[in-house]
Amino acid sequence: MDIRENLEQIAAQLQDELKDLSELKALEELRVKILGKKGSLTALLRGMGSLSAEERPRMGQLINEKREKLTAMLDEKQQALQQKAKEARLKAEALDVTEPRPLPEIGGVHPINRVLNEVVDCFTGLGYEVVEGPEVELDLFNFELLNLPKNHPARDAQDTFYINENTVLRTHTSPVQARTMTTRKPPIRIICPGRVFRADEVDATHSPVFHQIEGLVIDENVSMGDLKGALDAFAKRLYGDDIQVRFRPSFFPFTEPSAEVDLTCVNCHGKGCRVCKDTGWIEVLGCGMVNPRVLEMCGIDPQKYSGFAFGIGLERITMLRYGISDMRLMYEGDLRFLKQFR
Ligand code: PHE
Repeated sequence: MDIRENLEQIAAQLQDELKDLSELKALEELRVKILGKKGSLTALLRGMGSLSAEERPRMGQLINEKREKLTAMLDEKQQALQQKAKEARLKAEALDVTEPRPLPEIGGVHPINRVLNEVVDCFTGLGYEVVEGPEVELDLFNFELLNLPKNHPARDAQDTFYINENTVLRTHTSPVQARTMTTRKPPIRIICPGRVFRADEVDATHSPVFHQIEGLVIDENVSMGDLKGALDAFAKRLYGDDIQVRFRPSFFPFTEPSAEVDLTCVNCHGKGCRVCKDTGWIEVLGCGMVNPRVLEMCGIDPQKYSGFAFGIGLERITMLRYGISDMRLMYEGDLRFLKQFR
């Protein structure tokens, strides 16, 4: 077979093979098969040694021309395949930014915080300001300035966690009262929500860590009637307009007179049920007129000023609000419980 025929055959074969070729790797193999060191076209060039001196340059030119043509064919195919591969990749990686996605699960506000928010809302609406204090508290503020001197028997009722002789985990939010009275001048109108600590058992109604909301108002001519009005507004806001407030005489060293406050049972509305132990009433807070001795110790003139204070158990009013029967449910983080408050 002469070189010319051979060249045509190689070209025809390449054209044929290129038709069904779809992989870049196969294209490279084909390139090597024809143009590589041991390729068919290269073999033709090598075979030129046997040609005559005048034929050699002519054939050489012919082969080189063919070589360029074949290279061009291979390059063209290569470009087409590369383009196709790029398009395929772009398509595979495409993002539809308009496609709706499933929403992430969102949490809800914890029932304790829900009720706290409502209480804060209620009292800020009445002109109170929210004030906070430390959880690790000096004996001075937690007890002494509240008229609970060392060795006072009423300290026993508080099951105190002592850090050292002069420092405690606060047993109530009342130290925030003492702190505020020693640093501000009346009129004072504050509520102080926060965590408190007592060495208590854990059961359905007790926990060593719980929450209180302290209220304090000091001004000229503040009376027990003002206290009752404020608590009335609070009770109706949280539990509805038919809820009554009842004061029962009680004792706290820092208030005089003192009272414990009951609400009409929010479960049976006074008829008597399991929640109120058939009394029709539920105790929710302690309160009273700030003891003049406390005012004096905190640097406020008891001749000029009077005031009232109250301390609400946040867990208790939350349980009543949502009909939660066991306090522990509020601390365990069980999603079956929490999901009900989304
Ligand atoms: N600090 C009291 C308690 O924890 C509650 C209270 C607050 C009573 C303010 C009267 C006035 O029991």
